[in-house]
Order: sequence, then structure tokens, then C-alpha cells
Amino acid sequence: MIGAGNMARAMIEGWVRADPARASSIIATDRGSGKAEALAERLGIVAVATNEELVERADIVVLCVKPIDVERVLRSVGSLITPAKALASVAAGVPTVTMESILDDDVPVFRLMPNVGVQVCSGTVCFASGRFAHTAAADRVTEWMRLLGAVVPLMERQFDAATALSGSGPAFIGLIVEAFEDAGIVAGLSHVAARELILSTMLGTVQLLQEHELSCSDLRRMVTSPGGTAATGLAALERGGVRGAIIDGVLAAMRRAAELG
Ligand SMILES: NC(=O)c1ccc[n+]([C@@H]2O[C@H](COP(=O)([O-])OP(=O)(O)OC[C@H]3O[C@@H](n4cnc5c(N)ncnc54)[C@H](OP(=O)(O)O)[C@@H]3O)[C@@H](O)[C@H]2O)c1
Repeated sequence: MIGAGNMARAMIEGWVRADPARASSIIATDRGSGKAEALAERLGIVAVATNEELVERADIVVLCVKPIDVERVLRSVGSLITPAKALASVAAGVPTVTMESILDDDVPVFRLMPNVGVQVCSGTVCFASGRFAHTAAADRVTEWMRLLGAVVPLMERQFDAATALSGSGPAFIGLIVEAFEDAGIVAGLSHVAARELILSTMLGTVQLLQEHELSCSDLRRMVTSPGGTAATGLAALERGGVRGAIIDGVLAAMRRAAELG
């Protein structure tokens, strides 16, 4: 892990939670903040002083620096990344072709878009392969990523949409959960009860949708009887423009991802 900031920490916490024995196989660096060493002390991973040492020791190099730092880091250690290794980058908006053009050799390069759920092994990791990627390297990278949650293969041109939906998604869903908490309080529940009710309702709904492969409209029909409470509530939500606001929010995030890339 080149970089030991927020995303690197979330991924490392996920790996150590999923398989504590892997901690000693994870090596991290930073730019001088001491975050890699702090992770080493807390989680039992290995912190090294230089990116050169990290690249020499690692068989998968994961770039966890800000997009603006990708080129500088790759120019300094790119020559050490041989085709026998794999390079995986989580940097938003940096295409595999940009990284391949900086590297000397035909290195298997992968672009990833994880979200914060990786910290609790329930993340979503979008995954795309570069020009020189091959099955063995892809298997090696995805084997690690699967420990962090769902690995979703996408074409690179879909990454801005994925960034909006699953990358920014936890922030959007956090807003919705908060709105339900507020609604529960207005309706007379304590904050604790409102939070417990909405989180458990969300979990159950997700499980139903996944296990029974229900469509959302089938699910809505299951709980919406004519003239009942859900029907009345849904009509008010639609009048309030919830669906349109969510579509607008995701499209705005997607446009922003394209601007930043
Ligand atoms: N946060 C998210 O939810 C999220 C989601 C998907 C993708 N991402 C991507 O994840 C990447 C990292 O984001 P972040 O939020 O984790 O950023 P961050 O907290 O600022 O962490 C960046 C890390 O990179 C390190 N770094 C910078 N230059 C370096 C160098 N030359 N050598 C070694 N380490 C270096 C920094 O070191 P210091 O600690 O010494 O400053 C820091 O630890 C970004 O590209 C972002 O697009 C983030």
C-alpha cells in the first residue's frame, strides 16, 4: 500500500478483520506523516521507510495516494514494478492507460474503486483491467479484494457512474438514514429507537431483495395495501420528488467525477 491515509486504512482494517494472519503480508508507506507506522503498531502490518523498498518486497503494489500524486509516485518507482508484479490503483479518475504510459514494462495494471464499506468487509470494489492484465494477476488482485466485499467488474468508461453510485453512495445513504431518524423523532420515537428501527429495516430490505431476487416494485407491492399506510406515505414521498432528487444527486456526482478525472 503506497499511502496510508483514509482509504488505505479502511482497506487494511478490512483485510485484518477478514483474516488476521494476513497482517504481516501487508506493507505500507506514507510521505512522512507516520500513519504507516501507526497502522503497523495497531494492526500488525509492516511499515517501511521508502516506496522503493515496498515495491521490491511486494507482488501487488496498491496505489493509495491522491490522484494528483499518482504520476510523481509512479515516475519514482515505476522502473521497479516488473511484469511479474501487479499494480492496482484506487485513485479516482486516473485511467489504467495513464499508468501504463508511465511504466517501462508491460505491467498488469488494475483500476479499483472501493467504498468505505471495505473497513467492515462489506464494501463494494469496482474493478477494471488494463491492457497487459492477465488472468493470473487478476486472480491475485481479486482474491485480496473479495475479502473486502463485493468485487464488481466494470468497463473503465463506467467508472464515473460507479464512483457516483457506490463510491459516494455511503454519503447519500447516510443522508437518507439521517432523514429517517429525524422522521422517527418527529413521529415520537427516541433517536436510539428510530435508528435501530431504520437500520434493521434497511438490512432486512436488502436481504429480501438479494435472497428472493425481488424487483423493487414487487417488494413495494408486498407492503402496500390499497388505501394503507405505505401507499399514503409513498404518494407523499413521490410528491416530494425523492426519486428525482436521488437521480439528480447521482448525476451531479458523476459529472463531478468526470471533471476531477
Ligand atoms: N476516501 C474515499 O472514500 C475514497 C474512495 C475511493 C477512492 N479513493 C481514492 O483513494 C486515494 C487516497 O484517498 P484518501 O482519502 O485515502 O487520501 P489521504 O487520506 O490524503 O491519504 C493519502 C496518502 O497518500 C500518502 N502519500 C502521498 N504521497 C506519497 C508518496 N510519495 N509516497 C508514499 N505515500 C504518499 C499520504 O502520506 P502522508 O500520510 O504522509 O501525508 C497519505 O497517507 C485517492 O486517490 C482517492 O481518489 C478514496
